Amino acid sequence: MSAPSPDLRLAVSPEDLAAAMSVRIEVFVGEQGVPEDLERDASDASADHFVAYLGGVAVGAARLLADHDGAILGRLAVLKAARGTGLGAALVRAVEARAAERALTSVRLHSQIQAEPFYRALGYTPYGEIELEAGIEHIWMSKIL
Ligand SMILES: CC(C)(COP(=O)(O)OP(=O)(O)OC[C@H]1O[C@@H](n2cnc3c(N)ncnc32)[C@H](O)[C@@H]1OP(=O)(O)O)[C@@H](O)C(=O)NCCC(=O)NCCS
Repeated sequence: MSAPSPDLRLAVSPEDLAAAMSVRIEVFVGEQGVPEDLERDASDASADHFVAYLGGVAVGAARLLADHDGAILGRLAVLKAARGTGLGAALVRAVEARAAERALTSVRLHSQIQAEPFYRALGYTPYGEIELEAGIEHIWMSKIL
């Protein structure tokens, strides 16, 4: 039997928004030890949120923020059991498509150092200095759409 194909969507309903948050909490708080009050922040209220389901279970999430410089991709997370199947890359592409729809011409993100090769492969270029965020080394990366 072939694997179920992912259902990746803009999270608008309370159910989808809660599902996206549950993935973020499991990955960033549970797995990476980020304090929950840092993981949820004021930007969540104005962000576009994305959730990916596999076989009806929420396994991926991401969010898009916008400012005068373009789009900011953040909180990209895929549950451990679902990694390595292209879901992370699909979420990045969904955020990019939404940014283009909103007439935003670039996407930037604060990448954890361990994820830099992942974003590089998707066309992102690092800039600036390595900084600590929530105790984890990060670097800014950007891409012109
Ligand atoms: C980073 C993350 C979202 C990637 O999700 P994923 O679903 O495993 O990614 P994909 O399957 O779409 O991977 C796409 C490609 O990137 C590669 N890749 C994935 N994670 C990588 C990493 N950390 N470093 C280097 N390459 C990576 C994959 O091997 C794959 O390569 P391929 O196209 O040659 O097969 C996921 O590992 C995750 O949630 N990590 C913990 C949270 C995190 O680090 N989030 C990013 C914060 S900035």
